[in-house]
Amino acid sequence: MGDFLSGKFITFEGGEGSGKSTQVRRLAETLRGKGIGVVETREPGGSPGAEMLRHVLLTGVAEALGPKAEALLFAAARDDHLRVTIRPALERGDWVICDRFADSTRVYQGIGGAVDVEFLGALQDLILQGLRPDLTLILDIPAELGLERAARRRGSQGRDAPDRFEKHPVAHHERLRQGFLDIAKAEPERCAVVDATADEDEVAAEIRQLVTERLAL
Ligand code: TYD
Repeated sequence: MGDFLSGKFITFEGGEGSGKSTQVRRLAETLRGKGIGVVETREPGGSPGAEMLRHVLLTGVAEALGPKAEALLFAAARDDHLRVTIRPALERGDWVICDRFADSTRVYQGIGGAVDVEFLGALQDLILQGLRPDLTLILDIPAELGLERAARRRGSQGRDAPDRFEKHPVAHHERLRQGFLDIAKAEPERCAVVDATADEDEVAAEIRQLVTERLAL
């Protein structure tokens, strides 16, 4: 993260049904309890312009353009999100907790969509301008279990159809899972892997401990 920014930037990554949104909310509550200003956000989305692109991306309207164009649209959404929501929050000293971020593009478009790694790396450098999460928590769960959980959640929300990126077979999601684990291995100082099969309270406790240790709370 750039020195001119004073807040901390935490991202959550992982497969479908890994419980990211619940854990984002719980960590935000914990940090607020310590008197820290927290902005909870998500990708794709997190700003009005990016939420518009979220709709285009997740309904599959953009699927016909191919994974490379989808990567560009995720990047456009991220650019708006950074400008409108993330950078201003960090500049005023708030912490930002984001449900998915750039690693999702590396994994979903890079591995899932076979978009060239160098293209994605160059795109990421252009959009991020040196900003990098202080901590990335990778919630790891076997793909089959995660997909079951995601399907149950959809059922309880009255949504039956999986979104554009959920609908692939289990083996595809297992490759994505490995992609996140490989990022964690390559960047251990930024990333930590959390076992997301444990129950919600245990996962929350592990995350609290990691944030305390890594960000010297
Ligand atoms: P969402 O409903 O937020 O799913 P989840 O609860 O699994 O986070 O949908 C986000 C979907 O968008 C998810 O399937 C991953 C995909 N995605 C990408 O393909 N590339 C990206 O850069 C991002 C941020 C998300």
